[in-house]
Amino acid sequence: MKTYLVTGGAGFIGSNFVYYMLKEHPGARIICLDKLTYAGNLETLEEAMKNPDFRFVKGDITDRKVVYSLFEEETFDAVINFAAESHVDRSIDEPEIFLKTNILGTQVLLDACRKYGNIRFHQVSTDEVYGDLPLDRPDLFFTESTPIHTSSPYSASKASADLLVMAYHRTYGSAVTISRCSNNYGPYHFPEKLIPLMITNALFDKALPVYGDGANVRDWLYVEDHCKAIDMIVENGKIGEVYNIGGHNEKTNLEVVKTVLRKLAKPESLIQFVKDRPGHDRRYAIDPTKIKNELGWFPETDFETGIEKTVKWYLENREWWEKIKSGEYTAYYEKMYKNR
Ligand code: NAD
Ligand code: DAU
Repeated sequence: MKTYLVTGGAGFIGSNFVYYMLKEHPGARIICLDKLTYAGNLETLEEAMKNPDFRFVKGDITDRKVVYSLFEEETFDAVINFAAESHVDRSIDEPEIFLKTNILGTQVLLDACRKYGNIRFHQVSTDEVYGDLPLDRPDLFFTESTPIHTSSPYSASKASADLLVMAYHRTYGSAVTISRCSNNYGPYHFPEKLIPLMITNALFDKALPVYGDGANVRDWLYVEDHCKAIDMIVENGKIGEVYNIGGHNEKTNLEVVKTVLRKLAKPESLIQFVKDRPGHDRRYAIDPTKIKNELGWFPETDFETGIEKTVKWYLENREWWEKIKSGEYTAYYEKMYKNR
């Protein structure tokens, strides 16, 4: 049975991946390494903690000592790196930690994989490394050969990490793959991101802050579909390759926000147009042909079903997000939205 290291497994996608792997690979050991930043939440992993095949280790991927000692203790078959600073607005406010965690942290993990026997390494990247597409060219999509062209400190840090991963493959023969996914949504999504922020604000009858004109387009994918794609790439992806993951599910932000309001039976008067995000990417759209043809992956959850499940999850798990919204996050919200 295999042993997987999942970094950043106390965050949104990482935790969903932990649960996906425990369900789909019974008997496999899943070790989670997470620093527990503001975005990491041990309560999310409460159920996983009851499983003897799961182990949680608190630690920073940029801390070489911590990482190497974990690689001494455990024999990993694969490392899947979700650990990152992930919020674009925070990267615009304070870029430095993004460069440290997202680039240097990735380097430490790559070094550990080299040092302990060319361990298989998968980098969870993002479609944001491709920059954006114009709104008036719906015929254009990101493919794996679209040039990297970043907009925010966040996307620049993710793109830098991708370049490093590929450099390790070419220079040292590291056994790597990269996936670049579009916007995810689903359970355990931190309420600073569009969909959970809109759901939780609406439930408090609080204004829903839409940046600019709300016409920016994102390609939404239910998180479980992303987890499945990563599992397929780790198992059967070609070493040294990049795979795009996306749902052909483009929506404007305004469409998404109105859908959320409809699902919650809340009025559209809650929508408040606010100052735009600097450098705001207009449109993301993934062409997932490669992963479909090579690995047989396709998105299984359509947006209508996925958003229904997501809204239901937030209604049934108020304790999880109310704690976040009433804690230290309040100061962040005040700072980010007060002058918008
Ligand atoms: P998240 O912010 O919800 O979670 C990040 C996790 O990483 C948290 O648990 C945090 O504690 C941990 N972490 C942060 N710095 C760390 C460090 N130095 N050492 C160890 N752990 C650390 O992020 P997410 O939305 O789940 O994204 C996960 C990954 O997927 C990121 O790499 C992100 O770039 C990528 N991604 C996200 C999306 C999306 O829509 N959310 C889409 C495509 C790709
Ligand atoms: O595309 C993948 C990326 O998706 C990931 O790499 C990032 O980690 C993830 O955070 C996400 O980035 P976005 O910037 O697209 O997600 P966010 O939820 O922050 O914003 C989605 C859209 O909604 C974007 O156009 C900005 C807009 N928005 C966001 C917030 C938080 C608003 O209009 N109002 C808001 O309050």
